[in-house]
Amino acid sequence: MPEISYPFEPFKIKAVEKVPITKREEREKILWKYAKGNIFNVPARKITIDLLTDSGTGAMSDEQWAAIMRGDESYASSKSWEELNRTAQKIFGMPYVLPAHQGRGAEHLVLTVLLESDKRPVVPGNGHFDTTSGHIQWAGGVGVDCICDEALDPESDSPFKGDIDPDKLTRAIEDAGIDNVPLVILTITANTAAGQPVSMNCIREISKVCKGYEIPLFFDAARFSENAYFIKTREEGYREKSIPEIVLEMFSYVDGAMMSSKKDGLVNIGGLIVCRDEELYRKLATMATLFEGFPTYGGQAGRDIAALAVGLREGMDEHYLTWRIGQTRYLGARLRKAGVPIFWPTGGHAVYLNITKAMPDMPRKLYPGIAFQNAVYIEGGVRVCEIGTILAGRDPETGKERTARFEFVRMAIPRRVYTQTQMDYVVDTVTAVYEKRDELKGIRLTYEPPVLRHFTAEYAEVELVRNN
Ligand SMILES: Cc1ncc(COP(=O)(O)O)c(C=O)c1O
Repeated sequence: MPEISYPFEPFKIKAVEKVPITKREEREKILWKYAKGNIFNVPARKITIDLLTDSGTGAMSDEQWAAIMRGDESYASSKSWEELNRTAQKIFGMPYVLPAHQGRGAEHLVLTVLLESDKRPVVPGNGHFDTTSGHIQWAGGVGVDCICDEALDPESDSPFKGDIDPDKLTRAIEDAGIDNVPLVILTITANTAAGQPVSMNCIREISKVCKGYEIPLFFDAARFSENAYFIKTREEGYREKSIPEIVLEMFSYVDGAMMSSKKDGLVNIGGLIVCRDEELYRKLATMATLFEGFPTYGGQAGRDIAALAVGLREGMDEHYLTWRIGQTRYLGARLRKAGVPIFWPTGGHAVYLNITKAMPDMPRKLYPGIAFQNAVYIEGGVRVCEIGTILAGRDPETGKERTARFEFVRMAIPRRVYTQTQMDYVVDTVTAVYEKRDELKGIRLTYEPPVLRHFTAEYAEVELVRNN
């Protein structure tokens, strides 16, 4: 399919929500006076197109709303639980299913149970998501990034930049000592690596390495069906396979998965764990009862569970996925054609603007990603999000700012929410900012919390002194 076109929406619109339209002067005032320069503080009612995240921001279908009406609120072993249990067992081919209140709830259970150790356990992966890293640390462990070198090249056409490099993984295991690696996590797709997919070949290879060492392999499976779509369309031998067949094969190589249902589960809240081992399930269920809720609801209402059972199936629909991935590619390809540097090829859920390349003159200490992100809001009321120096934060031991792999601005696309004309508006807004990027001011921090600073930091603008 050509890059700058994609099939029409495989759904029609039944309910609409008014999109806020604001004036530039109003946006300037809100961003700098009210929100103190932090895009997270801008009220959603003042945002025209919201590309802050694809998590929990999707639109549910008529079938999901109907399932919500049928949701069974019995405390234990409800009908909705039975429906979810059957559905998840069939889709993932795993006997044990455990709901959690959201992705980080699932991470909390899996990582506290598996990282039980006196030492400092090491958890290799392909760039853990920030909540995953947080839970690894919380459980006393440390994450190690074994992503392939292709992930470091934002320009090449490599189709699976989310892959783990098996040699890097072997080295990480040998360095840590086999007994000190309680699990390996493969994030599908790799959110911290520009949403790049992981190939079936990699999943198979990594599974072999893990089996050789008898180390459990888990997916962070938030975007499992988008990853399966990339395998179908980019990897040899999968063109004729259906998405459910590919998903089943992907999961056949792992021991379990934790996931945020707020992405490919097509619901606004929820999380899930699946696993093969009964003993592990029993430990997780005990923890779940303490922290999430009885193991058949895990902190979710019966109606939420009912909607998830439908969403998991709808998320694997090939017409939907072709449109969904097509929309992301369309946004990326149009920006690229306009000369705006992006991480290429586009991944599943977002387009990542390469600010390092777009604004090479602005030093990292003046936070060019925040400058660009804020300018996009002022220009057109579009909310996007810095993934760079501010997000990377500081080393807790030295207090020094960590070096982000790239200075990115992420444009995450909610599922089944925005139309092509709205994407065109985003392209025009971002292109307009890109064209006047040399006029953007630098940014300084006026307030910085000790952890997760991007959420609540406050900023002011500073004049950029250029070298030439
Ligand atoms: C890859 C990945 N893992 C875990 C999470 C955490 O999920 P939740 O926000 O549901 O806690 C996210 C959320 O964005 C994610 O992208």
